[in-house]
Amino acid sequence: MSDLNHSKIIKDFPTLDLKVNNHRLVYLDNGATTQRPLQVINAMRSYAEGSHGNPHRGAHFLSTKATEEYELAKEAVRNFINAKSTEEIIFTKNATESLNLIANSYGMENVHKENEIVLLISEHHSNILPWQRVARVKEAVLKYMYVDDQGRLPLEEIERKISDKTRIVAMAHMSNVLGTIFPVKEIIDYAHSKGALVVIDGAQSTPHIKVDVKELDADFFVFSAHKLMGPMGIGVLYGKKDLLESMPPFLLGGDMIEYVYEQEATFAPLPFKFEAGTQNVDGAVGLRAAIEYINKIGIENITAYERILTGYALEKLLSIPYIRIQGPKIAEDKGGLISFTIDDVHPHDTASILDTYGIATRAGHHCAQPLMRYLDIPATSRASFYIYNTKDDVDQLLEGIKNVRKWLGYGS
Ligand SMILES: Cc1ncc(COP(=O)(O)O)c(C=O)c1O
Repeated sequence: MSDLNHSKIIKDFPTLDLKVNNHRLVYLDNGATTQRPLQVINAMRSYAEGSHGNPHRGAHFLSTKATEEYELAKEAVRNFINAKSTEEIIFTKNATESLNLIANSYGMENVHKENEIVLLISEHHSNILPWQRVARVKEAVLKYMYVDDQGRLPLEEIERKISDKTRIVAMAHMSNVLGTIFPVKEIIDYAHSKGALVVIDGAQSTPHIKVDVKELDADFFVFSAHKLMGPMGIGVLYGKKDLLESMPPFLLGGDMIEYVYEQEATFAPLPFKFEAGTQNVDGAVGLRAAIEYINKIGIENITAYERILTGYALEKLLSIPYIRIQGPKIAEDKGGLISFTIDDVHPHDTASILDTYGIATRAGHHCAQPLMRYLDIPATSRASFYIYNTKDDVDQLLEGIKNVRKWLGYGS
């Protein structure tokens, strides 16, 4: 299927050995979170055993070790997304916190009455709710760009919605429901020509396709470690240095200050200004190990492999008459994620029945209720792939889907 050493990759993931309901686990919920390789698990364990201390606070051995680990992780992230400097990399809890930081700090300061904020209808709630609050408080206007029936964003829609009144465009690089990879470079260029800044939610794209924030010219870019084989509880906010410097801190407290007086305080330089309190060094160590793991395989190889797998799954699913696929139906337009519905079956029933065969998929609105309303469906089933999935996993899914129909009395 590709020249990757697949049997070796699969051995790196202990969870894939699990038996679920007496079946081999087929893990197809990578859009929600990914499994971790031994390289990540071991790096975190070795940090806990030999380097754990509170970083940036002490002169002793362990504090210094923890600081070094934290800074190495920053550098790994900088290099991974090709940012200019680690001053532009802020560690947060997850993509959600990164988006809240941007909205509360940049948005509240720079969006004014009657300015417009433009979102995509397919946004995750994490990239909607913070902007709803900014719009409400600042009396700004929230506008949506709508996708076509193939889940793509037409050029006319971009030109219709982004205007001289737009202050911020906030959108996902890749939709967590449609799987569409949006042409963010073109949208960023267009938004900049209108004087707007662009916030890219890279939660779904960063694990699977090459991200180069310099080439994209993104103003802000966010993602979570747990979707790229790293641990939960650590996320990334990239922001252009001049923007971050102009912004007020989001959270206040220890580690983000320069001097504190009785009535006021001055703040530490970037990136520390945005990293209040003790940071998640365990998470940073795991994130770095995950990035190193991806780099060893090669992100381009990951993209190419998943494209083949997605193409295979799409071809099979499209040949089943009672399956409806949401979003692009060709692998070249999307990442490794397929949302579908089975005629006459609620997605929650689909997920529960598939689970009895050891197949992990996701069902629901996928934190994208405005999109569900726009598509006029209550929910979908979602199968999402990563580098450790195989054609055999796709075949198991297809077999499972036939069983869903049989269980519910429709035949296959
Ligand atoms: C597109 C998108 N944005 C944001 C998020 C939020 O990620 P997190 O829960 O890690 O903050 C997700 C999670 O599913 C997502 O798919």
